[in-house]
Amino acid sequence: MKRIKIFDTTLRDGEQTPGVNLNLKEKLIIAKNLEALGVDVIEAGFPTASIGDFESVASIAKTIKNSTVAALARATKGDIDRAYEAVKLAESPRIHTFIATSPIHLKYKLNMTEDQVLERAVDMVKYASSLCSDVEFSAEDAYRSNPEYLIRLFTEVIKAGAKVINIPDTVGYALPNDYGSFIKNIMDNVKGIENIDVSVHCHDDLGMAVANSLSGIMNGATQVECAINGLGERAGNASLEEIVMAIETRKSYLDMETGIKINGIWRSSKLVSSLTGIVVQPNKAIVGENAFAHESGIHQDGVLKEKSTYEIITPESIGKVQNNNIVLGKHSGRHAFSNYLKENGIEMDEDAINDAFDKFKKLTDRKKNITWKDIEAIINNNANIAEETYKLISFQTLGGNRSIPTTTVEIEFNGEILRESSVGDGTVASAFKAVERAINIPIKLKDYTIQSVSGGEDALGEVTVKIEEANNIFVGKALSGDIIEASINALINAVNKMIEKIEKDGE
Ligand code: KIV
Ligand code: ZN
Repeated sequence: MKRIKIFDTTLRDGEQTPGVNLNLKEKLIIAKNLEALGVDVIEAGFPTASIGDFESVASIAKTIKNSTVAALARATKGDIDRAYEAVKLAESPRIHTFIATSPIHLKYKLNMTEDQVLERAVDMVKYASSLCSDVEFSAEDAYRSNPEYLIRLFTEVIKAGAKVINIPDTVGYALPNDYGSFIKNIMDNVKGIENIDVSVHCHDDLGMAVANSLSGIMNGATQVECAINGLGERAGNASLEEIVMAIETRKSYLDMETGIKINGIWRSSKLVSSLTGIVVQPNKAIVGENAFAHESGIHQDGVLKEKSTYEIITPESIGKVQNNNIVLGKHSGRHAFSNYLKENGIEMDEDAINDAFDKFKKLTDRKKNITWKDIEAIINNNANIAEETYKLISFQTLGGNRSIPTTTVEIEFNGEILRESSVGDGTVASAFKAVERAINIPIKLKDYTIQSVSGGEDALGEVTVKIEEANNIFVGKALSGDIIEASINALINAVNKMIEKIEKDGE
């Protein structure tokens, strides 16, 4: 069976998703999760982009032991030096350098000829190879480039030392058959290609990213670049879970396999969604809430008789817990809680378990029936940690259709209690204004969503708040049986992340 390498770019191309801005802690949580998931390569970021990016890549490189850690660099010495500096301490470092090759990019973006680009690519691959033995070269906008030129370029770049060549459909323009033939032509004509990995990197502008990537590997490519939940520039990249599950489900037809531990897929999707604040559409393949829901009577009847009538993948196989029965309650101890997480495939470090257990205990005081969905929400919410610069101590709110919504908050800051009240158009608005007055920092609210976690009168409300500061978006999350409390805490969580970034940038 052919082993396909999974190159995950959630932390690089995925982080280019509009409205996504992960901090170092969040990137590390995702990187560790990707390592546990079994991805071959983690593209950790673009170190030249900012000091924050550089530090995140360096910190991921030092932490990750079982996946290659790649850093992106334009084909310039400055970028390559910076990328190498960031990944050099990794167990298995990779420099990923790129330059555009299509006539459109050459004319309008680079103002260079094909020969000039070829010379630069060769020089920079040679330079990168002098620093790091694992160098990947990407021809940006390859699919809209002249195939004869690409064959010449890739042949030279392989001679210069590239260990992987990547053939992106940067603008998501390809169709599956066409992209497959494009890859095959390169496979058949580039000298030395049999000794290296060939990678596909497809964007989803026409909804073809996964199909095109599969067509690429069916025509000889050995690595797929993808992102959890299909995050990425514009319409996104090929989704990791769809690629992996297509290969897994149609293994015998494709005669291929990946190294992904598929039972970690559901959790990875939830984690990335929680940290990025990008919601997964309910009908999304593999990881959508409805991906395994059978609505019509005929389907339900069929599934009850024999699951395979309407199910090609079991939810359990990707780590989705189906049994939503109540298993833990008020009297459950930490040990039972931690065992229960393990039984359901959740691996977390001691601190995270302790924190989740505290939240679970608090919840048992307020909620009679704790379901798996509640526990899943607590675990994911736990990932949204930030230094508690500001902490909600108490709030009081007054609402109703005949009164002016008014909220008073008490917030702890540096050992002091900040107390303020405000009216607003609604109770949530009054609460947000009270917080803004108490902390005395202007807040630019970009988005607010509330979702009920499980059914019933005492269901938990999960609030996501996005605020903006200097073109950066900060995502705050909180859970509570009381939606005003969840709203205030989500806002404070976002503010705390914003403060962390401002302080870091000022250092
Ligand atoms: O889409 C693209 O071409 C890229 C390259 C930098 C690999 O993201
Ligand atoms: Zn891309």
